[in-house]
Amino acid sequence: MEIFTCYNSVKGGLEIMKGKTLKLALAFLLSLSLVGCSSNTSDDTQEAEETTTFATRDDVDYVTVDAPETERENGVISADEWAESFPEIYESYMMTSDNNYTTDYLAQDEYLTNIYEGYGFAKDYNSAQGHSYCLDDVNNTERPHALANCLTCKTADYTALVNALGKDAYSMAFDEVSSTVSENVGCYTCHENQAGNEGQLVVTHDYIIEGLGDNMDSIDDAVLSCGQCHIEYYFNPSDKATSIPYSSVETMSPDAILEYYNSIDFADWTQESTGAKLLKAQHPEMETYLGEGSVHASMGLSCADCHMAVETSESGTVYISHNLVSPLDSEAILNTCTQCHGDTDMVAKVEAIQEKITARETEVGTALSELKDKLAEANTSGNYTEEELDAIRDLYRSAQWYFDFDYVENSEGAHNSTLANYCLDTSEDYIEQANALFK
Ligand code: HEC
Ligand code: HEC
Ligand code: HEC
Ligand code: HEC
Repeated sequence: MEIFTCYNSVKGGLEIMKGKTLKLALAFLLSLSLVGCSSNTSDDTQEAEETTTFATRDDVDYVTVDAPETERENGVISADEWAESFPEIYESYMMTSDNNYTTDYLAQDEYLTNIYEGYGFAKDYNSAQGHSYCLDDVNNTERPHALANCLTCKTADYTALVNALGKDAYSMAFDEVSSTVSENVGCYTCHENQAGNEGQLVVTHDYIIEGLGDNMDSIDDAVLSCGQCHIEYYFNPSDKATSIPYSSVETMSPDAILEYYNSIDFADWTQESTGAKLLKAQHPEMETYLGEGSVHASMGLSCADCHMAVETSESGTVYISHNLVSPLDSEAILNTCTQCHGDTDMVAKVEAIQEKITARETEVGTALSELKDKLAEANTSGNYTEEELDAIRDLYRSAQWYFDFDYVENSEGAHNSTLANYCLDTSEDYIEQANALFK
């Protein structure tokens, strides 16, 4: 077994996450049979204790402190105001600004502009960056955004406004509200003003509370916390309110969501050239992660386990880093994978999955783009009745939905390759059915 030498935490030792007993103990046993023995044998224990020492979630120094007085009118205690109570967390939180690399998806995958024709994403579609860019990015995007509902996932100040005004806040003008908000995704977003209570997690986004209701209890807090935004949503046509198209883990599958959208005749846009009423999936990380086929979700891992490292400050405080990173960029997080994956090269494992999924996306995306061209041609040819065109449009709508559900998910297959492949295969299936209807 390869032993990582990592930073100098004094606590923890070899038993990674030793405290999250039940669910991880189970996972651990399972993993031994699946990936071979990754644990310390008595032979290497000695060596391991000398060289592999890193803190685990069980070692975190949870503290209770009084909330600072806020000077802010809306009552949202800002990250800056928490800095004195939680210096390490604050510093790590500010580090999301290191994640400033973006890919221009439209340049990278040429078929996209054609598929998204008539919608904002055909004009401007870059990959995401760290949380500290949320407000800058929403203010600078070339995609149109008339209403304030675009601020839903960008700033704690808007969340507080929604919580104060109710749904009316969603249909306010973007420009009117954007000049009044300044905090990005903030402590309030995930903790309300309760961060001082050992980092208590609170769901602050109203559409999650309304949409999931009591079913929130079946989702780990540290999944739901991220799932306030890393999800599929839509703007309700009647009041423009940000809403989720499901009410439970069972109904957040791509099949059930499509069924729901069909049942309320919802479309994000009608594409002029094809006449099709299309759906634009957003970033269904939580749905994909909790979806059928997800190995880690079934073992009880949360988003935080893989995206928030346990770190130790110079003065010895063990805390949860709030720099939300790819696990591949954090040695501390990669260390936790060894518990189940042994000495597997995790970067190579993840990249191999992503390469396969990306290659399939190119195949299916190209076929979808070709279908769109044929449909646009049929649409103006005069050779088809409206019924005939509608039958093809419906299949095209489903194909676009399944393609998008995979494509826009930010892990590129790493969260749940089973579901990613299912989406791409299903999309391809719809494309073939549609192609069979052309004369
Ligand atoms: C209030 C909404 C919101 C919440 C809650 C939220 N995020 Fe985000 N997240 C975003 C937005 C918006 C972006 C994209 C920012 C940009 O590009 O300007 C983002 C970007 C990211 C990125 C960078 C993605 C990339 O491609 O570089 C990571 C990683 C991330 N979030 C992880 C998390 C995790 C883990 C949680 C839970 C602990 C979480 N987020 C909670 C809204 C949110
Ligand atoms: C078992 C570990 C694991 C869990 C649990 C997990 N992720 Fe990930 N996540 C990954 C990996 C691996 C990647 C791919 C990273 C890369 O490409 O560099 C990823 C990528 C991402 C990205 C894109 C980041 C980037 O830099 O490109 C976001 C955003 C994200 N995850 C959010 C979430 C959310 C939200 C949850 C919970 C619903 C979650 N993850 C649960 C392992 C995990
Ligand atoms: C995007 C969501 C998100 C934001 C923003 C966020 N937190 Fe957290 N925080 C979490 C999650 C999730 C956990 C629990 C992680 C786990 O279970 O591993 C946590 C844990 C904590 C803890 C307990 C662990 C520890 O190290 O003491 C404290 C305290 C805390 N957060 C404070 C803050 C403060 C202060 C801010 C603002 C500077 C902040 N958080 C911003 C999601 C967030
Ligand atoms: C609690 C045990 C456990 C932990 C911790 C764990 N994994 Fe896994 N993971 C598994 C098991 C079991 C499988 C299924 C067998 C396999 O593919 O190796 C798996 C599969 C995977 C897959 C393939 C998923 C898919 O849908 O194709 C990836 C990628 C992955 N793990 C990445 C990671 C990363 C990165 C970490 C650390 C941040 C990690 N895992 C931590 C148990 C774990």
